[in-house]
Amino acid sequence: MYRDYYCGEPTENLVNKEITLSGWINKRRDHGGLLFIDLRDRTGLIQVVFDPENLKPSEINWNQFRSEWIIKVKGLVKLRPKGTQNPNLNTGKIELIAKSYEVINMSKTLPFEISDFKEETEEFLRLKYRYLDLRRPQKYNILNLRHNVIKYIRDYLDNKGFLEIETPILIKSTPEGARDFVVPSRNNPGQFYALPQSPQQLKQLLMVAGVDKYFQIVKCFRDEDPRADRQPEFTQLDLEMSFVNQEDVLSLTEDMMKGLMEKVGLNKKYNSPFVRLTYDESMNLYGTDKPDIRYGMKINDFTDLCKGNQFKVLSDTVSRGEVVKGLVVPKGSEFSRRQIDDIVDYSKNLGSGGLIWIVLDSEIEFKSIVKKYLDKNFVKKLAKYSGAKNGDMILLVAGKNKNTLEILGNLRSRLGRDLQLYDQNELQFCFITDFPLFEWDEDAKKWESSHHPFTMPHEKYLNNITDNPGKIRAYCYDMVANGYELASGSIRIHKKELQEQVFSVLGYSKEQTNEQFSQLLNSFEYGAPPHGGIAPGIDRIVMLLAGTENIRDVIAFPKTQSGFDPLFESPSPLSKEQLHELSIDVIKSENKN
Ligand code: AMO
Repeated sequence: MYRDYYCGEPTENLVNKEITLSGWINKRRDHGGLLFIDLRDRTGLIQVVFDPENLKPSEINWNQFRSEWIIKVKGLVKLRPKGTQNPNLNTGKIELIAKSYEVINMSKTLPFEISDFKEETEEFLRLKYRYLDLRRPQKYNILNLRHNVIKYIRDYLDNKGFLEIETPILIKSTPEGARDFVVPSRNNPGQFYALPQSPQQLKQLLMVAGVDKYFQIVKCFRDEDPRADRQPEFTQLDLEMSFVNQEDVLSLTEDMMKGLMEKVGLNKKYNSPFVRLTYDESMNLYGTDKPDIRYGMKINDFTDLCKGNQFKVLSDTVSRGEVVKGLVVPKGSEFSRRQIDDIVDYSKNLGSGGLIWIVLDSEIEFKSIVKKYLDKNFVKKLAKYSGAKNGDMILLVAGKNKNTLEILGNLRSRLGRDLQLYDQNELQFCFITDFPLFEWDEDAKKWESSHHPFTMPHEKYLNNITDNPGKIRAYCYDMVANGYELASGSIRIHKKELQEQVFSVLGYSKEQTNEQFSQLLNSFEYGAPPHGGIAPGIDRIVMLLAGTENIRDVIAFPKTQSGFDPLFESPSPLSKEQLHELSIDVIKSENKN
């Protein structure tokens, strides 16, 4: 009744055929009595011509047409006159000569243009009118890409014998490192459900249940501050397998991701095999556990070369047992003094005491703000050791190892971006393995899980996990691409005793352990198989494929940076009656301590 084709479909095969189309008015152009309309739907545009010669006005004259009205048009497909064809459109060789039309719906003046969209349109406004923002073909393409990614994953895992199983959204707090979103229970005044930060324990319980291979495309909820790559509500591909080791999980993940790149990767280049780095290697070479390996510029350890150096800043650092590490910036001699000052300030803001820069002019000449303290031979040695060439710039940071690596890691990412050291059209994947089981939290003065408490330590630590928890490495891995953590996973503990020991290192009392984890611990007493899994973040995968750095671009209805939903204006207060029903008293923020 409404249409024979989508707007983007008709081609010259339909010339002289009468067809009906429905769509939105993308643009109108008046040309001496003739009206040209670009009619749009999710498939694209078609040009429709309204000519008063062969068309009587209907209930509403076409002169009144405005952007985003929906019209239905019946007309004749004709080849466009020579010189007016548009090679950028699928329908660019033809036009539809309107014979009759009907206005299906009208639109108010738009809060922002859809046809001539400008990216700088304030994001809040775009989110408030998300249904208009999503009408743009670029947005539709991202939704389509997301659909294809999810469909590919479902088919892939189905073929491998995985079962998609839904797990509850109303559960109990699960520790994944963030705060929980909670839901009050009306029937149990003062009691709350928590929304899952991930189905971690549930998928492990499914392994105890003998499901063997589980997956789920699942919403996860974390009450943490949103960032460019983080939303309070996001989607994981959560998967878990029984009777597997780390290699089984990684090779399945790699195979799945390569297939994804082939089938829906929009012709982006990618590396094969995926690079493998241990956590320690990644930290030492890139100063981060999510390295962008599309470019080199690895961190060099200059500590030994700085022993006894005449420049006290360096030699004293080494004597204190600290380190001197640095980067070689290709063609750094082209930096202006202002650019150099800028990165010096950047590194200071990151907490460095200073950044020593040395520009290599020739074999024997160099520039540096601390030139008078630096011996030529020492600079030569630095260059030889790091492979720096004439025209490059060496950057040195001295201090505690952890801080130095962190500063250089950030500096490396910034320089990589500023100097465009990578191909935008490429994804370089790596697996980071052997993460520490625990990390010391200096503020709380206690051990924290570096991933989550269900992670299996390497065998050699199994008999003693309490003596030196910081040393323990685990069967815990991340998949990283282009500097983004795309997935995390681990082989899990499946024995009650070991799991209890881990909780005790984390400072849980027996009561707390029981209160929070008895469901999992009890299940381990009834024949729990060895198991492990991984959870790639769907939003981040789609982000990388779509080439955006903003996670909100790949979610149909995202929240703002402050966790607000401008469309529904949520969160919002509850009525007195609702609060009463839930036995909740709201404490006004000024009274809150
Ligand atoms: P983790 O907490 O590392 O692991 O999360 C796994 C992946 O989910 C994505 N992700 C997010 N994406 C968008 N917004 C967020 N706030 C956000 N938080 C996480 C990332 C991340 O790599 N249960 C474990 C997985 C396991 O061990 O199997 C877990 O949730 O891509």
